[in-house]
Amino acid sequence: MKISSLFFALYFVLIVLVSCQFIPTSRYLQTSVLVNNSKWYIFGGDFGNSNFTNEILNLELSSSFDISSPQWHKDQIGSFKYFFSTSCVSVDNSSIFIIGGNMYDLDQRPEDPNYYSNVYEYSLNNSSWTTPNITGIDNFKECGGLQSIIDNTGRIFLYGGVRNISGEICNKMSIFYTNNMSWLSINLTTSRTGYAATLLKGGNITYIGGRSVATYNDSSYVNMNEILIFDTNSLSWYNVTAIGDYIEGRAGHSAVLARDSKIIIYGGAKTPKARAVKPDLAMLDINVYPFKWIILNNSTVGAPSPSLTSHSATFYDDFMIITLGRFTMSGTYLNNSTYIFDTLNFKWVNTLDRSISLTAPEIITISIIAIFVVLFFIIVVVILQRSKESIKNERLSSF
Ligand SMILES: *[C@@H]1O[C@H](CO)[C@@H](O)[C@H](O)[C@H]1NC(C)=O
Ligand SMILES: *[C@@H]1O[C@H](CO)[C@@H](O)[C@H](O)[C@H]1NC(C)=O
Ligand SMILES: *[C@@H]1O[C@H](CO)[C@@H](O)[C@H](O)[C@H]1NC(C)=O
Ligand SMILES: *[C@@H]1O[C@H](CO)[C@@H](O)[C@H](O)[C@H]1NC(C)=O
Ligand SMILES: *[C@@H]1O[C@H](CO)[C@@H](O)[C@H](O)[C@H]1NC(C)=O
Ligand SMILES: *[C@@H]1O[C@H](CO)[C@@H](O)[C@H](O)[C@H]1NC(C)=O
Ligand SMILES: *[C@@H]1O[C@H](CO)[C@@H](O)[C@H](O)[C@H]1NC(C)=O
Ligand SMILES: *[C@@H]1O[C@H](CO)[C@@H](O)[C@H](O)[C@H]1NC(C)=O
Ligand SMILES: *[C@@H]1O[C@H](CO)[C@@H](O)[C@H](O)[C@H]1NC(C)=O
Ligand SMILES: *[C@@H]1O[C@H](CO)[C@@H](O)[C@H](O)[C@H]1NC(C)=O
Ligand SMILES: *[C@@H]1O[C@H](CO)[C@@H](O)[C@H](O)[C@H]1NC(C)=O
Ligand SMILES: *[C@@H]1O[C@H](CO)[C@@H](O)[C@H](O)[C@H]1NC(C)=O
Repeated sequence: MKISSLFFALYFVLIVLVSCQFIPTSRYLQTSVLVNNSKWYIFGGDFGNSNFTNEILNLELSSSFDISSPQWHKDQIGSFKYFFSTSCVSVDNSSIFIIGGNMYDLDQRPEDPNYYSNVYEYSLNNSSWTTPNITGIDNFKECGGLQSIIDNTGRIFLYGGVRNISGEICNKMSIFYTNNMSWLSINLTTSRTGYAATLLKGGNITYIGGRSVATYNDSSYVNMNEILIFDTNSLSWYNVTAIGDYIEGRAGHSAVLARDSKIIIYGGAKTPKARAVKPDLAMLDINVYPFKWIILNNSTVGAPSPSLTSHSATFYDDFMIITLGRFTMSGTYLNNSTYIFDTLNFKWVNTLDRSISLTAPEIITISIIAIFVVLFFIIVVVILQRSKESIKNERLSSF
């Protein structure tokens, strides 16, 4: 334990004493985006039982937090509700595009989604929504369950997804050029939904896992060794077969690109009833060829976070941060907590701060000590005050 830990504990006590913490409503199938590498936004989602939301949440990652008290804020809300959508931040970090998924009026009829547009733009300058007019053939309409990727030239890549009305898995790659607001649509022979997409250095995108056919059985899920690669420079596709540990097929998982070309995947499940898949946490080493899967062992990573699917994940300062989503078990049990995986040390941790490595009992002990210290000072001040007064009184009575 370091000196900084003590300051942290005092800070922690202050936070607990001073702030009344806002815990977001549990939800799943929301979409999230990290803006300017500091603020994490969460859009929409399902509160359970098809109770969809127009809520926008944000969490500032540049100020350290403990998983017991992440400082979530509610942003402006939208004029429509949506879930199963995907999102990207514009190249200048001034707006967020919300794309696809199921969108509803505020007086939502769950059986009747409205699709006014595929794309909505949320301005971070003034928290207002606009419907951009995009030219070109739009082959993307009504697809959801996909993960969009934006590159540094402002091209958004939208692959596959599932058409909610028909259950058909979409066999398109749609490229949305945000610099001139136009579409380019490419027909494909492959289709996937519920995968995890990651943009690599150099411009390749990896598509990992997901489901490739409309039915829901074990063979609907893509073999996790069959990694699909899209080269955004040449607009061409590659199939790469990974080796290594066995990773069960899944949809609804998340992936982040960690240091040294390691992709960390977390969670996901098989439908119906969001059946858990094994393992929850794994690493794909793409620095070697063929790519290699490695299961991160419980004994080294520490207590696992609960098994989640349709959650949100982001990557900040070598931490993989996971929040909200659905617990993988039967019934719709939803999560309102946040978990942090340190991808430098391969450990679940409690705080988003490298200078602190406290366990929960340590935090409690230090907090109790800190409360006693504060009480002690209050008592000392009161006693001093009293003794001053009694001296005064003595002087008075001596007259
Ligand atoms: C957060 O989730 C826990 C466990 O599911 C639940 O007990 C608690 O009431 C939830 N808190 C809020 C504010 O929804
Ligand atoms: C936008 O955010 C990225 C980090 O995600 C940063 O590299 C870039 O410089 C930012 N652009 C502007 C214009 O602030
Ligand atoms: C939807 O969820 C919100 C937040 O939990 C709640 O206030 C509202 O009553 C719910 N609506 C329905 C129709 O269940
Ligand atoms: C992004 O962050 C950098 C440094 O933190 C800041 O200088 C810049 O103004 C930010 N850009 C936007 C668009 O907020
Ligand atoms: C936000 O404001 C900046 C600076 O005025 C401008 O360049 C940018 O286009 C604005 N973004 C949106 C979405 O209005
Ligand atoms: C917010 O900014 C957008 C884009 O710059 C603009 O079209 C819209 O009118 C602004 N809305 C408000 C309420 O100022
Ligand atoms: C899109 O076009 C419509 C009709 O031409 C117009 O009313 C609307 O303002 C345009 N939206 C934007 C964001 O330019
Ligand atoms: C489309 O979404 C509705 C609302 O959640 C859901 O009830 C329905 O099963 C979905 N249809 C398909 C084919 O996934
Ligand atoms: C791509 O598929 C759409 C139907 O989804 C069809 O209308 C279009 O002609 C196809 N484009 C090409 C180049 O084959
Ligand atoms: C993209 O992936 C393909 C297939 O693995 C590979 O041949 C190519 O070199 C990669 N491109 C870059 C820029 O890494
Ligand atoms: C990749 O494999 C799938 C079947 O697993 C096949 O349909 C597709 O054509 C292959 N793509 C390439 C570029 O080889
Ligand atoms: C890790 O722990 C969880 C729960 O304790 C267990 O279900 C899982 O099988 C363990 N995984 C490994 C790889 O040991």
